[in-house]
Amino acid sequence: MGELVQGIVSMDGKAFVEQLKAENEKFLSKLDAVPLMNSLSAAKGGAIGGLAALLKIALKNEIEAAEIAASWVPTTPEIDAKLALARHAGDEARHYQLLAEKVRALGVSLEGFDPLAPPSPVLAYLRTLDTAVERVAAALVAREAMGARRNAQFLKFLEAAGQKEIARLYRDVINPDEERHHQAGCAVLAQLASTPAAQDSARRAAARLLEIGDQARSAAMEKTGAPVIPGC
Ligand SMILES: [Fe+2]
Ligand SMILES: [Fe+2]
Repeated sequence: MGELVQGIVSMDGKAFVEQLKAENEKFLSKLDAVPLMNSLSAAKGGAIGGLAALLKIALKNEIEAAEIAASWVPTTPEIDAKLALARHAGDEARHYQLLAEKVRALGVSLEGFDPLAPPSPVLAYLRTLDTAVERVAAALVAREAMGARRNAQFLKFLEAAGQKEIARLYRDVINPDEERHHQAGCAVLAQLASTPAAQDSARRAAARLLEIGDQARSAAMEKTGAPVIPGC
């Protein structure tokens, strides 16, 4: 009986996650509206200064993702969610370190660069989330889908700019990791989102994250004039 109930519950959670992913994809598909040619010609004409500004945004995203996931580990008792967050934190910290190495190799100084000051609206929002279901839905399922999409564009931009080393880091390490974070989040959320109430809060948290992330991306595009903004 217990197993039967368990089976029905997890199927419901899975169906919910599929539905949520489709809703998120619908929202995120507008990111692909950036005409690729604009992006590539900007990359070819771009100076190191413009690239440095984008890489600092990338560093900020990476460390903020590590910071929030790490802070949630002790306050998320659900073991699979806790483990997914812990691994996520470690991977994002590694992305920061690997990227910082490449940035320095470009001759860009990170002296005095404080990537957490001030916290982005995305980090500020994530800090308000108290439950595992919201945390996983927003930070792993939604944010990592957004990051993967943005980084796929950023990779094309880096290739067009002739930044082979940094492009390789995104292609071989960062982008596959972001996809894994998203998948891990989906698997955990399928277990957690087993009731209509849990599904509602997951949906709300994911939608809000995407909305805030989108506003932050538009603001960054306006500020830097860049046609693509990296995720994390
Ligand atoms: Fe990352
Ligand atoms: Fe990430």
